[in-house]
Amino acid sequence: MRLLPLTEGLHSAEAFSRPYLESFLELVRSIERSPLRYANALDGYLIATVFEEPSTRTRLSFEAAAHRLGARVISISDPRSSSSVKGETLSDAARVMGGYADLLVWRHPRDGASRRAAQVAGVPVINGGDGRLGHPTQTLVDLSILHQKWGVIEGKTVGILGDIQNGRTARSLAWSLAVLGARILLLPGSGLDWEPGFENRLMHRFAYRLKRVRHPLIQEWTGNPEARMLEPKGLVQGELFGVGTSALHGLDALYLTRLQEERGAKAHRGGYPGITVEQLKDPLLQDTLLLHPLPRRDELPVAVDEDPRALYFEQANMGPRVRQAVFLSLLCPEKVDLPALNPLPSGNPEHFLAPCPNKNCITHAEGLRPPWRVEGKGKRIFLCSFCDVPLEAPYVGCLSSRKVHPAYSPLVQQIRPENLVPFQTRDQAEKEDYSWGGG
Ligand code: NCD
Repeated sequence: MRLLPLTEGLHSAEAFSRPYLESFLELVRSIERSPLRYANALDGYLIATVFEEPSTRTRLSFEAAAHRLGARVISISDPRSSSSVKGETLSDAARVMGGYADLLVWRHPRDGASRRAAQVAGVPVINGGDGRLGHPTQTLVDLSILHQKWGVIEGKTVGILGDIQNGRTARSLAWSLAVLGARILLLPGSGLDWEPGFENRLMHRFAYRLKRVRHPLIQEWTGNPEARMLEPKGLVQGELFGVGTSALHGLDALYLTRLQEERGAKAHRGGYPGITVEQLKDPLLQDTLLLHPLPRRDELPVAVDEDPRALYFEQANMGPRVRQAVFLSLLCPEKVDLPALNPLPSGNPEHFLAPCPNKNCITHAEGLRPPWRVEGKGKRIFLCSFCDVPLEAPYVGCLSSRKVHPAYSPLVQQIRPENLVPFQTRDQAEKEDYSWGGG
């Protein structure tokens, strides 16, 4: 069985580099201009779409894209009709499906599911949405509509409103906006903010800084007078750095999201934030493009549909073109010549000791322990290689000396990253034959 690294397929927005995204968005434009150019590019290919959660747009746009490129498609569209109801693991299903098709598109309720499927399938896997974690091809759709309207996304301000805690589209979009150097205004509903680990990682990776902004609409949406804006440190602000909160003057796009009730999300006091026709008269929103991955609920009333700023149906219509570009890039890269995706960091297989603290991580359903990877220079943060959730490791061992130290010991700084092993207790380390190295 092939184990990580995950080089095949598309699993996370974290695989996007700026050159990749820029070339990808141009490819989508070229498919739009000449829809028949790649009409037979996937002749003879068989693609499987395996959707273990409901879907309308994502599955059908993948299938439409496959047919338009000349491929054939087999599909599981209703999780109740697959063997997962008989208790079959994702790993077993992916190994089998990998023998039937040349590429798999997988949607699954667990975080990190597509990465697991890719480890065992032997063919490329595309993440069609995994739990709360990510939905990278939806993000490519979102960026494509913005690129079509603006040309350049760098420096624009995009607000993300609603259930950012549980919404995988919000997370993938935020990361990708940072790849491109846009400002990200976070407008979570009450109690629906994401965990700080993800945001910290984004800020660190892209050298972003946090600013607080205020506006009466922010108060109406979130119940807080101010909101967090993440922006590249390099952007000129016309104001002194670090001086309190500043007023928000403009918003180039607003990305609305639905409450993810199927992931246990609940609207708290004050209800769930959405847009109203009245709010659209506010000067802040004068030139704001309105996006939504759909399906929508009350956060986006139908009365908004005829407004020229409402782009969500145009956005949804980009789906098949974008997914054509994704298929082409994975199955016949020589025809489209895109820069490679970043490989997802795979972690050290020696670090299988600790279980992932994220209860929704695919590892729990599959009886696996994640290979932990080390993040940043501090050498104390370990991330699950399946779901990217951080593990607090109060003790850190050295694989070569078999000594264990408190995580904050300067001795840990001298250990090479590939030799670091996370432990939750001293006892656990001693059971694994690590002796106390102090520090
Ligand atoms: C999204 C999803 O499944 O995460 N839908 C989609 O793919 N267009 C958003 C959602 O269901 O809220």
